[in-house]
Amino acid sequence: MASVLVVGGAGYIGSHMVDRLIENGEDTVVVDNLCTGHRAAVSDKAKFYEGDIADKDFMRKVFKENPDIDTVIHFAAYSLVGESMHKPLKYFDNNITGLIKLLEVMKEVGVKNLVFSSSAATYGIPDHMPIKESDPQNPINPYGESKLMMEKIMKWADEAYGIKWVALRYFNVAGAKPDGSIGEDHGPETHLVPIILQVAQGKRDKLQIYGDDYNTPDGTNIRDYVHPYDLADAHILAMNYLRDGNPSDAFNLGSSTGFSNLEMLKAAREVTGKEIPAEIAGRRGGDPDSLVAASDKARKILGWEPKYDDVHSLIETAWAWHSKHPNGFDDKD
Ligand code: UFG
Repeated sequence: MASVLVVGGAGYIGSHMVDRLIENGEDTVVVDNLCTGHRAAVSDKAKFYEGDIADKDFMRKVFKENPDIDTVIHFAAYSLVGESMHKPLKYFDNNITGLIKLLEVMKEVGVKNLVFSSSAATYGIPDHMPIKESDPQNPINPYGESKLMMEKIMKWADEAYGIKWVALRYFNVAGAKPDGSIGEDHGPETHLVPIILQVAQGKRDKLQIYGDDYNTPDGTNIRDYVHPYDLADAHILAMNYLRDGNPSDAFNLGSSTGFSNLEMLKAAREVTGKEIPAEIAGRRGGDPDSLVAASDKARKILGWEPKYDDVHSLIETAWAWHSKHPNGFDDKD
């Protein structure tokens, strides 16, 4: 039976991916350097290796010890829009070097399928909504630029070496495994939903909403939220699409519905029953006004059917995780 290698499988989305692969009966190998991921987030039914994808000898060893790997699912990248504005070289170095070294080793060992976490951040400021895969990609932050460069690197690696890829351009990911056993735990946390829930828990005084003078109905940014299980299911469909010999392609993954930052705050107040104090603060660099996906291509070609189509149910799953693990993966319960 073929095996799948998940690089970055101890991170927030990667760990939900691994959980879903195991549930689907896939033989799963995980690589993570644990720079942001958590060992405790990785299912104990997966085979875990701690190391860096840019370390070619280490990766050769992983492939040698697991000769049945036919597909790599890639989550091993830095992903914070705000940080990338201040530390662009950190993003280009880690994200691009990591992918190139991984592709070099995949080429050596003859692994031909790559499912890649790309991003809505590759589109920049779209001139219409919802965003289609064929729309122009003009990123406005180094993170999005690095993901766009990675898509282009994969395109040329396919032309030259026949390594097939699917780039999944995620919109905003939020939510957790509904039983609260794994979830989102970044240190420091910068994402909207976990920050709102940390305020609800009393771990922070208030939410700062970065800007209310954007070109949106209530002036706050609009984002399209998607649950990590729905993303994981799309990756499994993309893996099978490649295993069936289909051509390389890119797909948006979003719900096709946008929520403003103020609407997310309101929904979280409803779900948690907490007041959640908030104030308007200055803009954060690199934030486009709105990002909403057209996801019909993934539905039509991959057969993707996201299950979490309303933000209340998505926030409920995140709240289950936060309530059960107020200190994230540091909790030993
Ligand atoms: N925000 C606040 N206050 C906070 C945190 C965030 O107002 O304390 C706002 C941001 O300014 C933005 C929105 O909430 O308007 C969402 O911000 P996040 O940091 O949660 O997410 P981003 O939209 O910046 O980025 C996320 C991922 C990226 C991905 C992008 C795709 O982190 O990897 O979604 O849309 F590219």
